[in-house]
Amino acid sequence: MRIAVFCSGRGTNLQAIINAVKNKKLKKVKIALVVCDNPKAYALIRAKKARIKNIIVERGNFNSKSEFEKEIIRHLRKEKIELLVLAGFMQIVGPALLNNYKNRILNIHPALLPSFKGAHGFKDAFDYGVKVTGITVHFVDKDMDHGPIILQEAVLIKEKDTLESLEERIHKAEHKLYPKAIGLFVSRRLKIAARKVKIIT
Ligand code: GAR
Repeated sequence: MRIAVFCSGRGTNLQAIINAVKNKKLKKVKIALVVCDNPKAYALIRAKKARIKNIIVERGNFNSKSEFEKEIIRHLRKEKIELLVLAGFMQIVGPALLNNYKNRILNIHPALLPSFKGAHGFKDAFDYGVKVTGITVHFVDKDMDHGPIILQEAVLIKEKDTLESLEERIHKAEHKLYPKAIGLFVSRRLKIAARKVKIIT
């Protein structure tokens, strides 16, 4: 399956997916495109190093979200992309992408949804003082950090944790869970019924 990975920043999740494909932990996947909305993102360097086709599409260069997304869709069609994987892509997905790729967009969020939605999930959880947080991989729908949940993993917050030490464990968990969720999608083992995702064994 030809997939596109969407990034805005460091791209450590992109790297984990690249590695999983390379090590054959993630089979039948080709990362055919990296879509980035930030020309300074380190994710672009990772894509180039891995010789993956990459494009920069900046929201600021378009008058509307719809025009921004139509430009992305043009590239996705050209590359015959079947699955969109959002990995730290800091844009809210709009109707153009959602309608064209219904139930074909995944996102990873650094908290146990529906808690701590938004751009600072793990920091918000840490500041709130929860003892257990975690990560969520879900399908994307029209509301932010809301769609049907595919996989979640808990991460305990220890007394001695700092924001940095927590971030490290959150990332470590993400880098394992995201390739796993992509693998389930690619092997067509995910069935969505209302907002529940059944994993077919
Ligand atoms: C990840 O922790 C991801 O969960 C988060 O952005 C980070 C990107 O890191 N996404 C969100 O907060 C989405 N609401 P990365 O660029 O190193 O993969």
